Amino acid sequence: MQIHSSIRDLRSALRQHQRIAFVPTMGNLHAGHIALMYEARSHGATVVASIFVNRLQFGPNDDFDRYPRTFQADCDLLAAAGVDLLFAPTEAELYPEPQQYHVEPPGIQHQLDGEFRPGHFRGVATVVLKLFNIVQPQVAIFGKKDYQQLMVLRNMTRQLALPIDIVGGETIRADDGLALSSRNAYLSASERAEAPRLHRLLQRISTAVRAGERDFTRLEREATDELDRNGWKTDYVAVRRQSDLQVPLDAAEQSLVVLAASRLGTARLIDNVEIVAVKGH
Ligand code: PAF
Repeated sequence: MQIHSSIRDLRSALRQHQRIAFVPTMGNLHAGHIALMYEARSHGATVVASIFVNRLQFGPNDDFDRYPRTFQADCDLLAAAGVDLLFAPTEAELYPEPQQYHVEPPGIQHQLDGEFRPGHFRGVATVVLKLFNIVQPQVAIFGKKDYQQLMVLRNMTRQLALPIDIVGGETIRADDGLALSSRNAYLSASERAEAPRLHRLLQRISTAVRAGERDFTRLEREATDELDRNGWKTDYVAVRRQSDLQVPLDAAEQSLVVLAASRLGTARLIDNVEIVAVKGH
């Protein structure tokens, strides 16, 4: 695997590559990321990954400084997964001057996760557009665990007419259902044992909705109460439309997703379950 930290070197290395599938990451890679690399392999002749902990998407109270950085282990995993090139720029390389031009996503950036992480999606969209301009991939893969991020980036790509197919990779889970995430590293042993409750509750909501339940507010409140009774501090549990993450207005709406973000100790965990309606409901 080639590793490049300069934009110029990466561009020159990529010149002879025709079809590029790109997986941007912030490192501290786990099986969820590696699954995205294999997904990329099925879409592109050349697989490019990036590792960059993007300060722009972290708020002042977020975990930028303590975000786990495990560069050598990440490189070993990427090489073993057959990634062709890794782009790992420094901050000075990607932001040689203060970034004054930003991608400003529409209203959805202030809802759900955006309500609790102001500026987050603006920072994500800005760095991803910049990475797209540097790597110029034909396909880019993002995990569905960050469901709102995937939607924001899909819409950005479509509205700015970027010639890139955006592919969503399935969430990879531990045996007990906990979605793999770099932030799971912040959980103590007892918090780790408690953490799968989040996914269990989302599944319970999904099952109820599939069975015909349409009082979403009650389902959301019951899940929030159960989390909070068990030591969590919940930002939101929300049943939304898959297409635009808005509140479903029509009871017959078929493609829904239930999303949640909640804090357990110092870890803020997010997860979601797509709800595929059962025929007849
Ligand atoms: O999902 C992530 O790891 C980050 O938000 C991304 C897409 C790499 C942008 O920094």
